[in-house]
Amino acid sequence: MIDILEDEHRLIKLVLESLITFADSVGEGDSGARAHLGEYTVFFRNFADKYHHGKEEEMLFHEMQRYGFSKEQGPLAVMFIEHDEGRRLVSALADIAQRNAPWSSDEIGEVKSAATALFSLLGSHIYKEDNILYPMALQTLPAGELERLSEDCDIFAERWSGIGYSEMTAMAGRLIEKYPPDPAKTSRIQSCTGCAAHG
Ligand SMILES: [Fe+2]
Ligand SMILES: [Fe+2]
Repeated sequence: MIDILEDEHRLIKLVLESLITFADSVGEGDSGARAHLGEYTVFFRNFADKYHHGKEEEMLFHEMQRYGFSKEQGPLAVMFIEHDEGRRLVSALADIAQRNAPWSSDEIGEVKSAATALFSLLGSHIYKEDNILYPMALQTLPAGELERLSEDCDIFAERWSGIGYSEMTAMAGRLIEKYPPDPAKTSRIQSCTGCAAHG
């Protein structure tokens, strides 16, 4: 299961990097880019949150709680809080995507600010999961439990195959192609604020 979640992280990170390119590309008076912003929010709500965070919260984190990890404090609690914070930032972007007037300079500032915050939050969140939380799960959960979780993951994926998994990955591919990740832009953003590894 952990390798599947890590693979999903790679796609989510690419779309976050692409979102930064998008936010930088919007100009005052433009009218066509709101639909693309809407597609980013659909991807983050469906693939990153309902699908990926759904598997973490309903399966992996749920199992970790059975093996002594607290949902109220410690690393698991931080992960739940960060999922919620991500939802708030995606809602802010979705709110702007739903309007239909040409972009104002204030809105461009709002999009840049929310996109940068989401990049920073989820970039740091993914780093902590890949390097701290998932290794903890691998150390703590018995091999049999991890195997059962992988089977549950397959069932979860089957449920999703009919309601948008391939549409979400195709949409991500189109956005990444149209707004390619640019290390010159993303390397300027602090992606790890105060986490245990880089604090
Ligand atoms: Fe997470
Ligand atoms: Fe994750």
